[in-house]
Amino acid sequence: MTGRHTGGPGGALLRDRFAFGPLEDGEALVEPILGSWEANMDHALTRSPIDVCSSRGEDSVVLGNLGVVRVLAVNGGGPGVRAREGDLCLLMPFGRLDRFGYAELAYAYDCPGTIGLLAERSKMDARLLLPLPDGTPYSLSQWAAYGRYFTAWDNWQKAYGCWRTQVPDSDPADHLVFGWGGGVAFAELMLAKRAGFRVAMTAGSDERVAFLREHGITPVDRRRYPDLSLPGRRERADRDRQQRRRTSVRAFLGLVDELSDGHGVALFVDNIGEPLYDVTLTALAREGVVTTCGWKAGMRLSHLRGAESIARHLHVNTHVWRLPDSPGIRDFMEADGWMAPKGSDVVYDFDQVPELADDYAAGRIGSYFPTYRVNPL
Ligand SMILES: NC(=O)c1ccc[n+]([C@@H]2O[C@H](COP(=O)([O-])OP(=O)(O)OC[C@H]3O[C@@H](n4cnc5c(N)ncnc54)[C@H](OP(=O)(O)O)[C@@H]3O)[C@@H](O)[C@H]2O)c1
Repeated sequence: MTGRHTGGPGGALLRDRFAFGPLEDGEALVEPILGSWEANMDHALTRSPIDVCSSRGEDSVVLGNLGVVRVLAVNGGGPGVRAREGDLCLLMPFGRLDRFGYAELAYAYDCPGTIGLLAERSKMDARLLLPLPDGTPYSLSQWAAYGRYFTAWDNWQKAYGCWRTQVPDSDPADHLVFGWGGGVAFAELMLAKRAGFRVAMTAGSDERVAFLREHGITPVDRRRYPDLSLPGRRERADRDRQQRRRTSVRAFLGLVDELSDGHGVALFVDNIGEPLYDVTLTALAREGVVTTCGWKAGMRLSHLRGAESIARHLHVNTHVWRLPDSPGIRDFMEADGWMAPKGSDVVYDFDQVPELADDYAAGRIGSYFPTYRVNPL
């Protein structure tokens, strides 16, 4: 499928034939099996915050940078190539790397000339293919959620490391890690729980509230705080709306107090951004860390530097992970069972991808791990 603008997110997808040249040295021909639907695809379809077609200088783009593929052929080898013909692999979404191996441009997003997984066949740099562990007990559906897990792993390492620079000896059991909703936050809180922290997270549906509880995370039903988001520009003069917001904020902060023995949140996983940012900072404990890799609802933020400094708040911003860390993260997932829970995904057929795009954008998907099937296993 190629993206071409016709209105809403799903409508921007077009099913078409896509030609690519012969395999060059170090490239692999693959058959995508299961792709993961991610916020970056939504950003691409809505052309916000960037228009990936114009930033790549291309009329259409094959999206899909996270998923499981079957390798049909590899041309050549060389350092960093692990995939062999017949392997099932995870695509690492790296376009251009900086000198330390972090992503500057994302594969099948803003990196020109990269072809994603929304195609029955695709070709890519073989160094981006990470084979699944031999004989893994986990299903392809569970592995297909790896993008949110790999991102969460990297973000958590940095956030926890920063927190420990200021709070070296305290027992995590006395501290609260809180997350605004989403699949990355869920994965990250499962790491925080393993590290011994108290964990709580917001969710917007009965299904998600039950899911969080089932996995040992204290669910916070955000429908109980209906006016928590900062009013939009047009509502700002509405005193009633401001008053309702104060009520929601007060109730939310009261809950944070209860969960943290009055100290506030030690590490706040915030991938939402702008409309909740003031609440995030108010809820943060002294020496707290606000950590992010996303800006689902707005990325332009401001804060009072003096207040943040005096409270010794650390702000952690990360993006994707470091390519050379990929095998280690995969092995940790396999060994520790830190994985999307069995049956927690939802799968759309290839023909239903535009519907998936619309359902995701409208918040109609109960699962944190929406996927699309391109080819049978
Ligand atoms: N930089 C990276 O490497 C990287 C990688 C992956 C993701 N991300 C970014 O991280 C962000 C989150 O990704 P994700 O995959 O975790 O998201 P996600 O699973 O798609 O969902 C985000 C969830 O946030 C909640 N939400 C949305 N708007 C909200 C609001 N105004 N207030 C409170 N909650 C709200 C909703 O859950 P409920 O309705 O259940 O509350 C929504 O399902 C995205 O911006 C994405 O681009 C970045």
